[in-house]
Amino acid sequence: MKILIINGPNLDLLHLRDKNIYGGMSLSDINRKIEQEFPDIEFDFVQSASEEEIIHKIHGSRGIYEGIVINPGALSHSSIAIRDAIEFSSIPVVEVHLSNLSDREKFRNVMLTASKCAGYISGFKETGYLIAVYSIMKIIQK
Ligand code: DQA
Repeated sequence: MKILIINGPNLDLLHLRDKNIYGGMSLSDINRKIEQEFPDIEFDFVQSASEEEIIHKIHGSRGIYEGIVINPGALSHSSIAIRDAIEFSSIPVVEVHLSNLSDREKFRNVMLTASKCAGYISGFKETGYLIAVYSIMKIIQK
């Protein structure tokens, strides 16, 4: 099984961001943790601040991956184009947010991309990525 993990803008600088909100791990630590937790799954990791690149990655996932875990960062709240790409993706997409969006600013509760995903996980910090991979495994087993 092959899963694509996509992280959007500013998530490469997680180690510099508020640890109380996002947890204390760097993005590469999180990626390593995902690989350790699921040794039988092959992962590709993409981090990009570019909406265009993220859309191309979603388009290109067809026939290569069984699922996508995506944390679009702030693009979750603004990108209709990523939402559309997710909508016609042929594989399950699960959205992750490290922080608990329901406890944050109102603008972060506009979730354009999450509503086109199989589901979303928010507030469990790095553990959210593990829950998302597990969810994809369960969706595929159905
Ligand atoms: C985030 C939440 C977004 O609102 C924010 O812009 C981020 C990180 C999260 O993982 O909690 O960059 O996606």
